[in-house]
Amino acid sequence: MKALVYHGPGQKAFEDKPQPVIQAPTDAIVRILKTTICGTDLHILKGDVPEVTDGRILGHEGVGVIAETGSNVSNFKKGDHVLISCITACGKCEYCRKSMYSHCENGGWILGHLIDGTQAEYVRIPFADTSLHHIPAGADEEALVMLSDILPTGYECGVLNGKVAPGSTVAIVGAGPVGLAALLTADFYSPSKIIMIDLDENRLQVARQFGATDTINSEKEAVVERLMAITGNRGVDTAIEAVGIPATFELCESIIAPGGCIANVGVHGKPVTLHLQDLWAKNITITTRLVDTVTTPLLLNTVVSKKLDPKQLITHRFELQDILKAYETFSHAEQEKSLKVILSND
Ligand SMILES: NC(=O)c1ccc[n+]([C@@H]2O[C@H](COP(=O)([O-])OP(=O)(O)OC[C@H]3O[C@@H](n4cnc5c(N)ncnc54)[C@H](O)[C@@H]3O)[C@@H](O)[C@H]2O)c1
Ligand SMILES: [Zn+2]
Ligand SMILES: [Zn+2]
Repeated sequence: MKALVYHGPGQKAFEDKPQPVIQAPTDAIVRILKTTICGTDLHILKGDVPEVTDGRILGHEGVGVIAETGSNVSNFKKGDHVLISCITACGKCEYCRKSMYSHCENGGWILGHLIDGTQAEYVRIPFADTSLHHIPAGADEEALVMLSDILPTGYECGVLNGKVAPGSTVAIVGAGPVGLAALLTADFYSPSKIIMIDLDENRLQVARQFGATDTINSEKEAVVERLMAITGNRGVDTAIEAVGIPATFELCESIIAPGGCIANVGVHGKPVTLHLQDLWAKNITITTRLVDTVTTPLLLNTVVSKKLDPKQLITHRFELQDILKAYETFSHAEQEKSLKVILSND
């Protein structure tokens, strides 16, 4: 089969790989129908995730159809259409029993990381019963690819941890796919303001289309002053950090209202400064989280019932065989006006 293979920092190829086989009775083999590329794949390609080794097939998102199941898989059978979770959960370890699937002692984020991933014609999914989701008949499978990772990430790490509430004020720093997913799901709770902050004018424009009440271009505007003017000098009740650099985390510290919640989503590679001299008396909460994908069934219901339309995040479509072109488009987001790309193998 063909797959997108990592060959060390800066090196990738779309090449022949052996088709995966069942290795444990709890495995399933899924034929990929649609997959996508994540910002995290770009981090891997830059060499930021050194545990990813030469020869690894990338990708941790997708939908497909079951080609084969191990003898202990009881919830899925050949021919079932499935949504693949970016997080593999054994369902039995201490962390799984606490619904912290991201910390599963036998899984967690392994797809396209420690084991071969979804940017291929076939993928092996360990613990299939607890790591795949049935796709209801008639559902838009392309839209559901957004539920493998970015929607649960924006929702769990941003909106739920940030305690977005009716009438509250929210700022989201970073209008990438994850920040926009937080915007779409923050709306479940009817906050009075959702202020989107980014440097990319196109993404801010998309954010306005998605329902942001205000946008601030932090390269061109005095972001703290603008935000304070919008919030009557209080700051926001929830500040969602969806970039992953010190400057944007510290911005969240400057715009949080007393009693507010800073929900970090971004993956950080460097230490950030905690301004406790300003924050100690402000009754704030800071949260961090790796996505658990524990809300995927809930999000699936909202997509099927058309409360949520994640398809809006898809800007480009390619055949799987053109994945190198898709990487070019995805990695030049500003020039190409790209958010999520869909790769089809149907
Ligand atoms: N916690 C988790 O489980 C989890 C899961 C998936 C992704 N992530 C992380 O979430 C973050 C966002 O992911 P994404 O795919 O949307 O990334 P992305 O790179 O597509 O988006 C980041 C956005 O931040 C903007 N930005 C960059 N510097 C900025 C600055 N100084 N001020 C304001 N905006 C700035 C960029 O223009 C871009 O639109 C990444 O760090 C990613 O690794 C975390
Ligand atoms: Zn991802
Ligand atoms: Zn587990």
